[in-house]
This record gives sequence, C-alpha cells and structure tokens, in this order.
Amino acid sequence: MTRLRTAILISGRGSNMDALIAAARAPDFPAEIVLVLSNRADAPGLAKAKAAGVAVAAVDHKIYAGREEFERSLQLVLETHRIDFICLAGFMRLFTPWFINQWRGRMLNIHPALLPSYRGLHTHERALADGVKIHGCTAHFVVPEMDEGPIVAQAAVPVLDGDTPETLGARVLSQEHVIYPLALRLAASGAVRIEGNRVLGALPACDDRLIAPSATPF
Ligand code: GAR
Repeated sequence: MTRLRTAILISGRGSNMDALIAAARAPDFPAEIVLVLSNRADAPGLAKAKAAGVAVAAVDHKIYAGREEFERSLQLVLETHRIDFICLAGFMRLFTPWFINQWRGRMLNIHPALLPSYRGLHTHERALADGVKIHGCTAHFVVPEMDEGPIVAQAAVPVLDGDTPETLGARVLSQEHVIYPLALRLAASGAVRIEGNRVLGALPACDDRLIAPSATPF
C-alpha cells in the first residue's frame, strides 16, 4: 500500500493534529503524517508533533510582503518534504486561489460547524445566539471560497440548555477528532470521488460514529 505523504498545517494547540497523528499510526492507514507546518513558531502543537516523532517547520507569515510570497515559501517547504496531501487543522490563515489550486482535491479542512451554516469564526457563540438545537463539525475539501468545498464527513451534536460556547465547543471538538481521521482515511484511500460539490462514497449521515456519545435529544 502506498501511503500518501501528508502534512498537517496548524496555528495553535493542534488537538486535531494529535487525532490525525494517532490515527495514522494504524498500519493500514492510507496516509502517513510526515510534516507538521505552522505559520507560528510558538504554536503549542509543534512541540507535541516533535515529541510524537514528526518533522516540524514554521514559516512566519508576518515576515512576507504579501500572502502569495508567504504561500510560495510554504509551497517550497511542502515540495522539499515531497508532500502529497494536506490537512488544515486550525490553520488560521486564508489562502489565495493560487495556493489552493496547487492542492485542489488534495487538501482537507476541519470546520467547527455544520457547513454551510456558520462559516467563519465564533461558530459556537453564533449557534447559541441563534438558539439552534443541533450543531456540529464538517470535514471538507478546500476550494478558493472560504469554508466551502465538497463535504466528506459531518457529525452532529446536541445543543443543551446549560451550554456555554466552551461546553458546546468541547462537545463539537470531540467529534472533530472522530470525523477528521475518518475523512482523511476516505480521501487518502481513494474511496471517495468528487462530483461537483458532492463527495460520493463519503460517510453516510447515519454512521454510528457520527453521533456524539450520550447525545439522545433527537
Ligand atoms: C478546531 O476547532 C477547528 O475546527 C477550528 O480551530 C480549532 C483548532 O483546534 N478551525 C477553524 O475554525 C478554521 N476555520 P485544534 O488546534 O485543537 O485542532
């Protein structure tokens, strides 16, 4: 089995990165995590990746005149490590179409909401303010439009009466850690294909793994 050489891009603590690294330890996993790359040299996730034996690199976006110059540096690091596939995991920079088109069909993102609801930031606060009863997370292929792109997997969680953005966010995050490795497995194994905006062969919504444990409000 050829395992796709995969880079995880982070900006912060890297809990999704941890979940991907742990999943990729399975001998039959179709992707190998060979690099963790951050735009912040002080991202806490970098030390964790290093401790897990994964190569790390940082490219500080602040020292570049523009986004494309920054991305050309990223691209060079990715090419040096012979990367086939990218997982964005809390990487808080927007990419230009130039970069995204280099990686079209080969780059996934995890978003803390049930897209197409709640694109952008502060998703848990906004879900609570709207009074929705179901919230969740989405793993999707990256396209030039922010927080759009063919969806590989989603998980739903209940919104409970006493929730704060923190408690709701923690419930969502635990499901991100479930669906992101599943989505990478599907994408890297070639088990799914993209047709228009749909990913066919993706996880069915009724998959038991996609319902939060102890969630019984439906
Ligand atoms: C995750 O909740 C991820 O969904 C979110 O940032 C967090 C990173 O946490 N990503 C976005 O909001 C991207 N728009 P982590 O560093 O612990 O994985």
